[in-house]
Amino acid sequence: MNAIWRCVCRLRQGKVPHRCQSGCHPVAPLGSRILTDPDKVFEHNMWDHMQWSKEEEEAARKNVEENSAVRILPEEQVKYDCDAHKYWGAFYKIHKNKFFKNRNWLLREFPEILPADESTKEGVGEWPRDHVRSHAEDRGGSPQPDPFPGSNAAFRILEVGCGAGNSVFPILNTLQNIPESFLYCCDFASGAVELIKSHSSFRAAQCYAFVHDVCEDGLPYPFPDGILDVILLVFVLSSIHPDRMQGVVSRLSKLLKPGGMLLFRDYGRYDKTQLRFKKGHCLSENFYVRGDGTRAYFFTKGEVHHMFYKAGLDEKQNLVDHRLQVNRKKQVKMHRVWVQGKFQKPFHWTQQN
Ligand SMILES: C[S@@+](CC[C@H](N)C(=O)[O-])C[C@H]1O[C@@H](n2cnc3c(N)ncnc32)[C@H](O)[C@@H]1O
Repeated sequence: MNAIWRCVCRLRQGKVPHRCQSGCHPVAPLGSRILTDPDKVFEHNMWDHMQWSKEEEEAARKNVEENSAVRILPEEQVKYDCDAHKYWGAFYKIHKNKFFKNRNWLLREFPEILPADESTKEGVGEWPRDHVRSHAEDRGGSPQPDPFPGSNAAFRILEVGCGAGNSVFPILNTLQNIPESFLYCCDFASGAVELIKSHSSFRAAQCYAFVHDVCEDGLPYPFPDGILDVILLVFVLSSIHPDRMQGVVSRLSKLLKPGGMLLFRDYGRYDKTQLRFKKGHCLSENFYVRGDGTRAYFFTKGEVHHMFYKAGLDEKQNLVDHRLQVNRKKQVKMHRVWVQGKFQKPFHWTQQN
């Protein structure tokens, strides 16, 4: 059993490791570094569970009011929607896989990425299989082609908007120990998908990477509806036009099997990224365009709740992660705000309209 796997097991058992021998966890467990003495603020790079003062909240509100006072004209906005894949394509052409850091926190925050009944086992063996094996050889016949990639897997994950693979590779690394699991990943930037496929750690036996625009409702997926155990939606929805978000979430919900989980993490309202936008970048309320044409929306917990509720999913977690990020060298403090949620598809799934 590898180190990350062992630690996820402990999390699943409800035990938070204080200090992971393997070094795969930060020295302080996530969420536990609390700033009690303001004089010590520059002693660490990040503080958890920051409470905002009324003044800080008011200053952030004013900042946003000012940076959204001028809106980009609707006719100019069209290109950011129609050509969204081109702007992201250009992004990956420039930055390759060097821009985002590997999401090594994923398994800590989302142990659901791994099959629950496996987390307490040392090895993998007799999993309950939800899918009839497609190999005719199992029935004594000659080998048949698989009906779809990952059709033989017992546990299936989809990462939407996978970019250059900053989540894909940490997950794939862990899945090596769980041979009956399978990872799909898609992005509408074909260059990003190519970066994943050409990466030395890419393993086609356990991963299928494909180009797909989640806003295109009619586009088929390379697998049937209702077969996914987990969907990962990490910093993707924020780059989609708010009017399209509900459609995306509802369509993705169809892909989940009953009991399957959609795991969400994205920018929260008043995150430093939102406060740093200058006038002239605002598209609509809390929605901005960066200089490179990519866009960012900043969510509240309520909006997230509403969207997943309408998609017919049960809320298992929905929290605002407030942190204080510190640049010790420059002695600068910045509030980070993220929204994180876990939503489960009920066994009797109906979407609210
Ligand atoms: C901020 S990046 C996040 C990448 C990755 N999820 C991560 O956490 O490192 C947003 C990604 O979403 C992709 N994306 C945005 N809109 C999309 C859409 N409509 N369909 C598929 N991918 C999309 C972009 O190409 C980009 O790779």
